[in-house]
Amino acid sequence: MTPPDPKIEELRRRKAQARLGGGRERIERQHKAGKLTARERLELLLDDNSFQEIDMLVEHTETNFGMASKRIPGDGVVTGYGTVDGRLVYVYSQDFTVFGGSLGRAHADKICKIMDLAMQNGAPVIGLLDSGGARIQEGVVSLGGYADIFLRNTLASGVIPQISAVMGPCAGGAVYSPALTDFIFMVKNTAYMFVTGPDVVKTVTHEQVTFEELGGAMVHNQTSGVAHFAAENEVQCLEMIRTLLSYIPQNNMEDPPHQTPLDDPLRMEEELDTIVPDNPNKPYDMKEIIRLIVDEGEFFEVQEHFAPNIIIGFARFNGRAVGIVANQPAVLAGVLDINSSTKAARFVRFCDCFNIPIVTLVDVPGFLPGVAQEHGGIIRHGAKLLFAYAEATVPKVTVIVRKAYGGAYDVMSSKHLRGDINYAWPSAEIAVMGPEGAVNIVFRRELAEADDPEQRRAELVAEYRERFANPYVAAARGYVDDVIEPRQTRPKIISALEMLQNKRLTNPPKKHGNMPL
Ligand code: HXC
Repeated sequence: MTPPDPKIEELRRRKAQARLGGGRERIERQHKAGKLTARERLELLLDDNSFQEIDMLVEHTETNFGMASKRIPGDGVVTGYGTVDGRLVYVYSQDFTVFGGSLGRAHADKICKIMDLAMQNGAPVIGLLDSGGARIQEGVVSLGGYADIFLRNTLASGVIPQISAVMGPCAGGAVYSPALTDFIFMVKNTAYMFVTGPDVVKTVTHEQVTFEELGGAMVHNQTSGVAHFAAENEVQCLEMIRTLLSYIPQNNMEDPPHQTPLDDPLRMEEELDTIVPDNPNKPYDMKEIIRLIVDEGEFFEVQEHFAPNIIIGFARFNGRAVGIVANQPAVLAGVLDINSSTKAARFVRFCDCFNIPIVTLVDVPGFLPGVAQEHGGIIRHGAKLLFAYAEATVPKVTVIVRKAYGGAYDVMSSKHLRGDINYAWPSAEIAVMGPEGAVNIVFRRELAEADDPEQRRAELVAEYRERFANPYVAAARGYVDDVIEPRQTRPKIISALEMLQNKRLTNPPKKHGNMPL
C-alpha cells in the first residue's frame, strides 16, 4: 500500500475541520434547540449528491477582540450550488455553530459571490438564515457587508427568483435581506425576525414581549404579512421550498417549467353549477372552486394566513404553471382592504416578473368601508393592486364568479386593465354597486316620499337586481368575452391559456414606473 500523500492528507484535514463548523459541542447544542445544522439543511434541500461547495476554506481577517486566534474555515456560512429536481440553484446556509452565524466581511463576501454567480447564470438563489446578525467584533465592516447583499438583492429582483428561509434568529438590519427577496419561509417555534428585539422594545416602549410574540413565524405569517409560508419544522420547510421551485422559472427570460399533465384538460365539473348559493349574501369557499378546476386539485397557497379575504398561490392548468388570485367570499365577504390589496399586488408583480400567467377568480363586493381603512390609506394601498394588474403583461384570464362591484370590478383584472380573456358565470353581478346601496342613493327622494318606504325599497331593489345584477349588461358591451356555464370553467381556462401562449405585449419604455407605495 502506498503511503498517503501528505499534501492530500493536509487538504482532507482542512476540509474535515471546515465540515465540523463550530465543533461537536455546538452542533449538539444546535440539535438540542430543535434545529438542523447548515449542512444538514442543504442535504435535505438539494438533490442527492448535487451540492458543490464554494469557499469552504475562507476565513475572516479580523484581529480585534482576540479574533486572530478564532478562525474557523467557512466563516459561518456554507455556500455553493446544486440542483432541485435536476434544476440548478445557488444556495447559502448560515452556520449558527460558527460565531452564532454572525455576518462579517468574509461571510458577506461569500454570499455576494454566490449571488453574482446566480445573476450571471440565471438561476434562483436560496438563503437559509440562522444568524445573530452583524458580527459585533467587525463593527462597521459587517454593516458594509450587509449593504453589499442588499444591493445585490435589489438588482436581482425580477431577474432571478430569490427565496429566504428563516430557520433561527434574524434580527436588526439583517431582516432586510429576506425582506427584499420574493418569498420568506419561517419555521414555527425556532425562527424569529425583528428589527429591534424584546430588550430594546422594553426600554423604549415599556412593552413586555417574548421573541415568539414579537417576531415568530405565525406573527409574520398572520399579522405583519412579512412572511409567506409557515412550516411546522425544518424538514417540511425545505420540502415546501422544493415545491415552490417546481412552479417558477429559473429567471425572467424563461417560461415556468411544464409538467406532463395527468389530468383531463376537458374535464367538466357539474358540481360547479351549484356551488354558488342562490342567496347573494351567503358565503361559500372559493378554494373549493380552485381545487375543482386546477390540475389534480393541487393548489400551492402563498400567504395562507395573512388577509385570507384574498387567496393567492400557484397551480397548473394542463401542466402549465399559473398564479391564481381569487377573492374569498368566506372571509369578510371577499372584500378588498389594505392587507388583501398589498398581498395580491405583490403576488401579481411576482408572476409578471417571471412570465407566469395569472388566473383571477372574482367575487368581490367592493372595497372595505370604514375610518380605519380610509385613514390607513386604502386609497394608496388599493392603488397598488390596480397598478400591478394594469402593468402586468403576462397572459391574464379572469372569471367573474359572482360579485364584481364598483372600483373592485375594475381592479380585479378587468378587460379595461388588459385582461386577455374575461369570462363570467351566469351568477355574476357586475355593476357600480350592490342593489341596496344603489337604490338608497338613486331613489332617495322617492323613498322619502313613499307611503310605504320599505315596500317600495324592496320593489326597487328587485327591479335593480333584475336589470343590473347580472353578467349580461357587461357581456353586451364586450366587457366580458363570454358568459359560460360554471362546469366549463376548466376547459375554457386551459383553452384561453393555450391561445395566449405566445402573447407579446410591452409597456412604454421608461426607467421604471412610480408605483404608489
Ligand atoms: C458575534 C455573535 C453574535 C454577533 C451571537 N454571537 N451573535 N458573535 N456577533 N452578532 C455568538 C455568541 O457570542 C456565541 O458565541 C454564539 O454566537 C452563540 O450565541 P449565544 O448567545 O450563545 O446563543 P443563543 O443563546 O441561542 O442566542 C442567540 C442570540 C444572541 C439571541 C442571537 O446570541 C444575541 O442576542 N446575539 C446578538 C444579536 C444582535 O444584537 N446582533 C446585532 C443585531 S444588529 P460562543 O463562542 O459563546 O459560542 C444587526 C445590524 C445589521 O445585525 C445591520 C444591517 C444593516
